[in-house]
Amino acid sequence: MENNEAIGIFDSGIGGTSIWSAIHELLPNEKTIYLADSKNAPYGQKTKEEIIVLSMKNTEFLLNMNCKLIVVACNTATTNAIQELRSKYDVPFIGIEPAIKPAVLHSKTQIIGVLATQGTLSSTLFNKTTEKYQDTKIIEQVGNGLVQLIESGQINSPEMTQLLNSYLKPMIEANIDYLVLGCSHYPYLIPQIKAILPNHIQIIDSGEAVAKQTQKLLSETIGFNSSTKSETVFYTNTDSSVLKQILGNKYKVQEKEF
Ligand code: DGL
Repeated sequence: MENNEAIGIFDSGIGGTSIWSAIHELLPNEKTIYLADSKNAPYGQKTKEEIIVLSMKNTEFLLNMNCKLIVVACNTATTNAIQELRSKYDVPFIGIEPAIKPAVLHSKTQIIGVLATQGTLSSTLFNKTTEKYQDTKIIEQVGNGLVQLIESGQINSPEMTQLLNSYLKPMIEANIDYLVLGCSHYPYLIPQIKAILPNHIQIIDSGEAVAKQTQKLLSETIGFNSSTKSETVFYTNTDSSVLKQILGNKYKVQEKEF
């Protein structure tokens, strides 16, 4: 099956590029359009209604570019808005949610940690998921301040180390053996997180699962790009320097109002 339109991907900012990267690695021939709504980041402390309005704005931008599929590369937008997006627009959506299931299935201590935004942890969708796993203790921690530091290019700052220590130490003391990264920005913190966690604690994020789900949907119902052009364009509505820095200056980045 063929479909030469692009896959549209959006996030509240630059974090969803961790998801884009997993998709691009698995499906290098696909065209992708990435939208970083950094002007409105963080979404994590906004109301459900505000998150829905912003997610619709992002979706409409991508639909105007004829995207064949939209990946909501943001746990906060997925858990608060994906139902509304699916009921309003005809295009297929793939969302991301904290990968609780694999962590619960593999945990030996039956105690796992989830680091995510306030918006994700308080959402009905997330709470429905955790209710299914009553036999496992799930320690939830809001990652206040982490997204702002990543968006402002302060991944390796002393403030970041201090915040991560304060969020992770109680989980280590509680004997978690899995840490679920429930925000697409957090994979950029894996080196700093590893420096704090003891070696036996595994870190899980959702990038690979989303990429596989994207591949499945393209093969079953949407179709793959058959043209030889596989361009990627990144749009941001703020200064693009931090985005360019994490992408390594290899890709086309455009600053644009949206
Ligand atoms: N990257 C996002 C997520 O996965 C949102 C972070 C935010 O804007 O607060 O939840």
